[in-house]
Amino acid sequence: MSEPQPAPTRAPVTVPTVRAAKRRDGHAPLVMVTAYDAPGARVADAAEVDMILVGDSVANVVLGYEDTLQVTIADMAHHVAAVARAKPRPLIVGDLPWMSYHVDAADTVRNGAALIRAGAQCVKLEGGAVRAPMVEALVAAEIPVMGHIGLTPQSVNALGGFKVQGKGDEAARSLVEAARILESAGCFAIVVEAVPEKVGTAVTEAIEVPTIGIGAGPECDGQVLVMHDLLGMSGRTPKFVRRYAELELAAIEAVATYAADVRSGAFPADREAYH
Ligand code: KIV
Repeated sequence: MSEPQPAPTRAPVTVPTVRAAKRRDGHAPLVMVTAYDAPGARVADAAEVDMILVGDSVANVVLGYEDTLQVTIADMAHHVAAVARAKPRPLIVGDLPWMSYHVDAADTVRNGAALIRAGAQCVKLEGGAVRAPMVEALVAAEIPVMGHIGLTPQSVNALGGFKVQGKGDEAARSLVEAARILESAGCFAIVVEAVPEKVGTAVTEAIEVPTIGIGAGPECDGQVLVMHDLLGMSGRTPKFVRRYAELELAAIEAVATYAADVRSGAFPADREAYH
């Protein structure tokens, strides 16, 4: 009988690995999911995703805010550090929150460094051509940057709501242009959110670095979802989300059973007491 073989050790995912993962060059689609704490990081790692985004969506799905504008760089560093302490193999992407990269390059680099020191291996920021100088400043400081175009939730007030972007030829062209500019500025990958499928495809075809879609169609080089959305724990289901579990319902059932057991005297039992 042959000896059981140890599970193969998976190499950590790095920025160069991700940068090279273009589907048209034969790479498998990249998988990114959000996580905001150590249990979330353990789940993402065990599920063998490629990247963990410590997203500012923590504001909506964990902290109970209406939008992402309320979280600060200190909040994000706190969550990045919690994820990093789980020592996951996927690449940790720290999301730069609103107003942490809008003032000047020095402030942007300081804030990027705060997330790197907390344990991120790269940062993500939202916006098109206007962000190119900040991307260049971060890259010059050895901080790899992921871009994010299309529906950029930090622009909710300027956009007048969470709406599909890139509708119409002109809007689609300007998203393709924004992606090219961000790539030239040094982004190693670009998230494309809530755009018509053909715009996701056009952006993906236009650039050499991978696109990570969220509501941007199947032709992107990878996909990202918010973990609490896909687990059925966020109380929301945007059109682009597929719910793979109903953990909120399962959690309610478990806690309600515990409550009933306490009230009936069924918990704790003898085996749950010290003697
Ligand atoms: O913060 C986040 O979760 C994000 C994803 C939606 C891409 O930016």
